[in-house]
Amino acid sequence: MSEIAYVNGRFMPLAEAVISVEDRGFQFADGVYEVVATYRGRPYALEPHMRRLERSLHELRISLDIGAYGLAQIIAEGIRRSGFAETLVYLQITRGTAPRHHEFPATTVLPTVVMTVKQLQRPPAECYVNGVRVISTRDLRWKRCDIKSISLLANILAKQEASEAGAFEALLVDDQGRVTEGSSTSAFRVKGGALWTAPEGPQILPSITRGILVEVARGMGLTVHQEFSSLAEFRQADEVFLAGTTTEAMGVVRVDDHVIGDGVPGPLTQKLRAAFLAANDAL
Ligand code: PDD
Repeated sequence: MSEIAYVNGRFMPLAEAVISVEDRGFQFADGVYEVVATYRGRPYALEPHMRRLERSLHELRISLDIGAYGLAQIIAEGIRRSGFAETLVYLQITRGTAPRHHEFPATTVLPTVVMTVKQLQRPPAECYVNGVRVISTRDLRWKRCDIKSISLLANILAKQEASEAGAFEALLVDDQGRVTEGSSTSAFRVKGGALWTAPEGPQILPSITRGILVEVARGMGLTVHQEFSSLAEFRQADEVFLAGTTTEAMGVVRVDDHVIGDGVPGPLTQKLRAAFLAANDAL
């Protein structure tokens, strides 16, 4: 079993993978990415991930000849070569390598396609059993958060702030006082048995896990409002949970200094998580 990389058509051990210092991903963060986890060895929700990737590429006018089908084959081959039971696949596509000029390079420059395949590390079990703490911080990101861009400076600053505060995640609050999402997760709150999560649009990433959880919740007969909430509404929620590819659905028990509910992951969070996992097992 070994960590695998793929760079522009070639598989290799991760440690041997290199790209040019003139890659526009390195110089300008001019690229997009996807993160896919496996369940029972199979890439989970691959189709929506590939659709989102194609959309991100389209929005940035990066044209990739391989297409979603070709990428799916590369992912399958990477997983096979790694030999791990469960893997985390990171896929990054940049506008390619060219002398550093801000404008797009000539069309003859091919995009750089990079993939890494590593053993999947889920958060520790106690995060799900006890729940986690989050802080709130300003959402400093750009106005196209719907594009899964590799430019993550505002996200990493927020996550670092959370980490230094001993918290799992930072909830991002925009200039209008609305909670958009976490630095690398989507955010939900529960009040009076109904769910709230920010609406799809330029302020959030259209998270695959968020979309699946919305469907799971509706399947359980719950009302889901895709509307913004204020930080105060999050702090006063009955339950709060985070969602993401590696996070799945994880209960939040404190937002800043405010204890959520009884200070343990709430009943709806637990039911949703169980239903999400059961649905994945049945795939
Ligand atoms: N992050 N919101 C943001 C800002 C994210 O970066 C992510 C994912 C999510 C959850 O999306 P999904 O359910 O599609 O994983 C929401 C990935 C995992 C990362 O950057 O590593």
